[in-house]
Amino acid sequence: MERILTHTSVYDATVIRFPRTEDPRGNLTFVEQQTHIPFDIQRVYWIYDVPGGKRRGKHAFHTQQECIIALSGSLDVLLDDGHNQKIVTLNRAYTGLYVPPMLWRCMQGFSTNAVAYVLASGPYDETDYIRDYDTYLECKGLA
Ligand code: TYD
Repeated sequence: MERILTHTSVYDATVIRFPRTEDPRGNLTFVEQQTHIPFDIQRVYWIYDVPGGKRRGKHAFHTQQECIIALSGSLDVLLDDGHNQKIVTLNRAYTGLYVPPMLWRCMQGFSTNAVAYVLASGPYDETDYIRDYDTYLECKGLA
């Protein structure tokens, strides 16, 4: 398990397209855990009213899995595994970015009125955070 996590790469983060029912009254999207989201959802949080140029969520998790959805507006998610970087732009309410454990990420480039809605696999746990990039590299055996 430890070996798999330390080898997490940016290519393990995938964009998931959720069901979308188009309707002249307004569109509808839904998700069910283990069907559209590859983990049990234990927590939901959302980030909003982000001033221009500010960044959120600049860290990795030891074990937590997340799915980030731009419910409104757009934002970029910078992914970094110590070898490669990838930027994923989220701007549709019917797609989400699955972020596995042990992957450095940062949410940035929030548009006006952007809402980042995040489904998480566990409760808030500060000890699960890796907030320092050099520590992240050390955890991956890269420093
Ligand atoms: P944090 O995840 O540290 O945000 P960022 O990575 O953008 O700095 O969250 C900021 C604060 O919010 C944190 O100190 C504790 C609180 N918080 C909770 O209490 N529960 C949660 O589910 C989250 C995500 C944060």
